[in-house]
Amino acid sequence: MTIKTIILAAGQGSRMRSKTPKVLHKIADKALLEHVCNTSLQFKDNEVFVIYGHGGEQVKTQLSSLNVSWIEQVSQLGTGHAVQQAEAEINDEDTVLILYGDVPLLKKSTIETLLANVSDNSLALLTVTLENPTGYGRIIRDSNQRVIKIVEQKDATASELQVNEGNTGILATQGKKLKIWLSRLGNNNAQEEYYLTDVIEMAVNDGLVIKTSQPETIDEVLGINNRQQLSHLERVYQGQQADKLMAAGVTLRDPARLDVRGEFSSLGQDIEVDINVIFEGTNSIADQVKIGANTLIINSIIEADVEILSHCIIDNAIVGKGSRVGPFARLRPQAKLGKNVHIGNFVEIKKSAIATGSKVNHLSYIGDSLIGRNVNIGAGTITCNYDGVNKFQTIIEEGAFIGSNTQLVAPISVGKNATIGAGSTLTKNAPADKLTLTRAKQITIKGWMRPVKKQD
Ligand code: UD1
Ligand code: MG
Repeated sequence: MTIKTIILAAGQGSRMRSKTPKVLHKIADKALLEHVCNTSLQFKDNEVFVIYGHGGEQVKTQLSSLNVSWIEQVSQLGTGHAVQQAEAEINDEDTVLILYGDVPLLKKSTIETLLANVSDNSLALLTVTLENPTGYGRIIRDSNQRVIKIVEQKDATASELQVNEGNTGILATQGKKLKIWLSRLGNNNAQEEYYLTDVIEMAVNDGLVIKTSQPETIDEVLGINNRQQLSHLERVYQGQQADKLMAAGVTLRDPARLDVRGEFSSLGQDIEVDINVIFEGTNSIADQVKIGANTLIINSIIEADVEILSHCIIDNAIVGKGSRVGPFARLRPQAKLGKNVHIGNFVEIKKSAIATGSKVNHLSYIGDSLIGRNVNIGAGTITCNYDGVNKFQTIIEEGAFIGSNTQLVAPISVGKNATIGAGSTLTKNAPADKLTLTRAKQITIKGWMRPVKKQD
């Protein structure tokens, strides 16, 4: 059996009030449509087709890496018309699954239930019981509780509007029959649209049973039409991520103040995460890592027993086992800390490797550098790596001690166990084991007096 998944994504989404097509708006940094595609691409023997329309080129370009086919619906004449655009792709023996590109949180398990309800004599329909079903098509059942049709809100009678079982729009059926029903769709209704929902009544007339199932939670089938709904589903999604982390053994001080915009390539146990932490991209966090409040971690590897204090940005960096970073530290791309490294407040590290046991504790910039083991870098040290055109490397060998407020004008190297006097500006290499410094001589002016305020 081949599944042909058709994702309807041609709607304009005018209520977003946006230049960006609706399905490109994001939840957790990922386009709504990408969430739907990723869920459906988990199924085997499945080809995914996206029906795009408004702003379609932008959608296609931005999501071109997805393994889906794109079909344009030039004018949006209804959900039935949208599915008709994919007719040529449907074979008789296929199972066709219809999803919406603006319903991002639908679960794989819900789709599995739906697919299991498809057979020669049954069509599978996902419905949802709502306190307030306004706007939804209503599921109309006969006295034996068998579904007989769907009526759109705008076409419904007063008694039909009383029904609180709504159509989610998501359904699955056999290709052969669907193609016949699609060819029979008309637009003789309140909205003059070709309604996909009309296939339900056709299926019943052809002797099929409509097998309904419901999602675990309503949030799964909520579509996004405006920014309020977007923010609601963002928080729902983040709640799910927080639950996953806690289930895996992570302590969250407040699950409502965490954002995961990406995934974990590995996740240890007994990790502690304080409030307002954001994980972006793919991160790996090992056992017993502690992450302080207001910290952003992007595509990084944090090894075991690391402590990241509050207000840090760790971006495409590696933090070695037992290291301590922050508060207020920034590790930029290709910062690589060995074991037990200390990076303190107001320190920026870029494209530099810092070996085991070294410390950069205060107010420093280390860029394009190789720093050996057990180096101590004093407060206010700057590697001057840039002449305005090119970047140059600084090498500081094992055991060196760099006095505070030192500028190292690269390319430059400081030898093993060298000591650099505070306040030096080095433009030449400093030899191993020696004290090197550049410093203006300190003088005291005898007989100097402070100026006194002139009297008028
Ligand atoms: C549709 C259903 C309704 C259901 C509701 C659930 C029909 C006739 N009605 O109504 O029973 O309760 O969804 O949200 O199916 N789209 C296209 N091309 C089109 C029209 C729509 O791609 O020409 C896409 C939209 O982008 C959207 C989806 O189809 O993703 C649903 O369209 P929408 O206009 O929201 O349908 P509703 O009127 O809400
Ligand atoms: Mg809708």
